Amino acid sequence: MKRPVLNDHIKEEIRDAADIVDVVSDYVKLKRSGNSFTGLCPFHNEKTPSFNVNPQLKIYKCFGCGAGGDVFNFVMDMEGVGFVEAMKSLAERFNVTVPEMESAESEAGYQLTEGVYHALRFAGVHFHQNLVTADEAAHARDYLSKRGFTTKTIRKFGIGYSLNSFDGLINDARSAGINDEYLFEAGLTKYSENSKNAFDVFRGRLMFPIFNAAGKVIAFGGRILKDEKGPKYINSPQTRVYNKSEALYGVHLAKNEIRKQKEVILVEGYTDVISLWQAGIENVVASSGTSLTIPQLQILKRYSPNLLMIYDADNAGQAAMIRGVELALQEGMDVRLLSLPDGEDPDSFVRKFGAEAFRNIRKNDAVDFVTFKIKQAEADGSWEDPLKKQHVISDIVQSIALMPNEVGRETMILHLNKFAGIGDRALFNELGLALSRQSRKTFKSTPDDNDAGRYDTFDPSKKQGHEAPNTHARDLGRDRGESAGSRATGNVQPSKPGVIPGYEKEVIRLMLSYGERMINYIGSNCNPDLFENPDIRAFFEDIITRYSAGEPVSVDHYSGREHPYPGLTGEIVLDRYSVSEEGNRKRGNIIKKDSDPYKTARGAMKTLMMQYLKKLHREFQAASTELTGVEREEALKKQVQVRKELSRFETMPAEDLFAKEEH
Ligand code: UTP
Ligand code: MN
Repeated sequence: MKRPVLNDHIKEEIRDAADIVDVVSDYVKLKRSGNSFTGLCPFHNEKTPSFNVNPQLKIYKCFGCGAGGDVFNFVMDMEGVGFVEAMKSLAERFNVTVPEMESAESEAGYQLTEGVYHALRFAGVHFHQNLVTADEAAHARDYLSKRGFTTKTIRKFGIGYSLNSFDGLINDARSAGINDEYLFEAGLTKYSENSKNAFDVFRGRLMFPIFNAAGKVIAFGGRILKDEKGPKYINSPQTRVYNKSEALYGVHLAKNEIRKQKEVILVEGYTDVISLWQAGIENVVASSGTSLTIPQLQILKRYSPNLLMIYDADNAGQAAMIRGVELALQEGMDVRLLSLPDGEDPDSFVRKFGAEAFRNIRKNDAVDFVTFKIKQAEADGSWEDPLKKQHVISDIVQSIALMPNEVGRETMILHLNKFAGIGDRALFNELGLALSRQSRKTFKSTPDDNDAGRYDTFDPSKKQGHEAPNTHARDLGRDRGESAGSRATGNVQPSKPGVIPGYEKEVIRLMLSYGERMINYIGSNCNPDLFENPDIRAFFEDIITRYSAGEPVSVDHYSGREHPYPGLTGEIVLDRYSVSEEGNRKRGNIIKKDSDPYKTARGAMKTLMMQYLKKLHREFQAASTELTGVEREEALKKQVQVRKELSRFETMPAEDLFAKEEH
């Protein structure tokens, strides 16, 4: 019997005892900056410091390469050791006595993840071997050479072939000692309903491994080869290592080139990425297997804010490009668009006309989105027709209104006016209207969801933002269900007295509903001071105290205690379930509670922190007007620090502000 010796409790104790600044300082020269420390990131090459350590939250984060986590992650990544190893060395260094550490819950999760990576890597090699050597793969080799892919390219992208059998991969993996469970968790096998037998998911297909930015295989796309029924591509399901809304095909090969070129080229297909790469254009990625999402854009933005979109010349491609533009504008990226000649996609274009022609068309024909939409309207005749022209113009203004930056918006309005020639006053009026319509829309979109709409949640049941549902025939063949992450709407108002702010209740609700792991997660990211409402603050403290003492924490427990808990508990739990459920039913929505509770938690914690920072800011502001001399200087300095921290919270998505929970 496995005994979970090493529980979250001990982990927490070590995390608490360990001084993350001290640990990081072994590797990085840190400088204090406000409440945190900065230095040059040890995980990537840089000249200006974007690596940040926050001793209060006990986390580190690099805003250059995205590396981040807690003290355990740091030791694991820096010293290349496993979780248990990291735990042991930290326990020793900071004098925490730890009972035996052979088996542990968290260790099991960690091992499963490692097993999944191993299985994926094995499968990648297996498929590639098939392609190179198997008799059965002759037609696949043929196909690739007809398409002009060189051996070097095939190797670089790890292209492979899955045998046309139900156990080609399984058998090979088993004889290599790979656990069936890992294959299944990797999305490589399935179990048939009645026979309980595992079988290969990918059969008789050309295999494109999908890598993460670090170059690990995380999924596959399998392309059909013969004229047979079935979808053109089968893509791996979402797994513990493959998050479709964040994965980008080709990112591991492109990221450095994107930084160098200060531009990312976004295309639609796996084969577009490969052909461009082969032609020497290496700053290319595709959003694999789904339409483009906000998280993907946020990742790309870390490498470069300049986006060039080149989608297929067909209608579906052009429509997808327009949807992508709106998301990218929202994210504050600089977007340019390139249309290829009719019938071409980047892959066919570069093969037909060569790299030089591609470079030329990219230089001469890539345009900003305003120009793009006007050119489109000119092409289909709607620019000539005054009634239609008016719609085109207000559609463009709508898009401009999505841009978060005022200077950017005004620049684009003036730019639009060069074409429209109707006077910029009319256009600015239209922009004002569009902006107010938009803020009304975001405000109204979640009337019953309490404060949930404020959070950076990623709940497919609540379609928000501006990504239209996939309605194009071609899109329907693709994996569905990834809506863009909704944007935090920002302007959170100070709470009214007597009313408990929704996000404070939300934090408690999550802790009551999702057990120890959630309590641990929230507890290690928040402290009681963050809560404005005294009852909620006490509630939070009580939960943490009970959790630390190993006592149960549940809705039942708090409902059975004395004032104020039963009332508060009811309010907290009912708020969400009854009110929003009924509201949602009325609107005919199917509600899915917390499709990812940790994501919800990060959203709630972000709002909580921001409110707290705003309060601090007000306090220091007041102090600086009342005080004099050195004290006033001090208050002003603090005010600036808080302002900086606040703007960091405003601009960063919740996903990047808090370390991910452990699996
Ligand atoms: P395309 O149909 O353009 O495929 O779909 P492609 O990759 O360019 O392949 P070729 O050049 O025709 O051989 C573009 C992308 O859409 C996703 C894949 O990521 C594909 O690369 N897709 C397409 C799917 O996930 N499933 C499908 O059934 C079709
Ligand atoms: Mn294509």
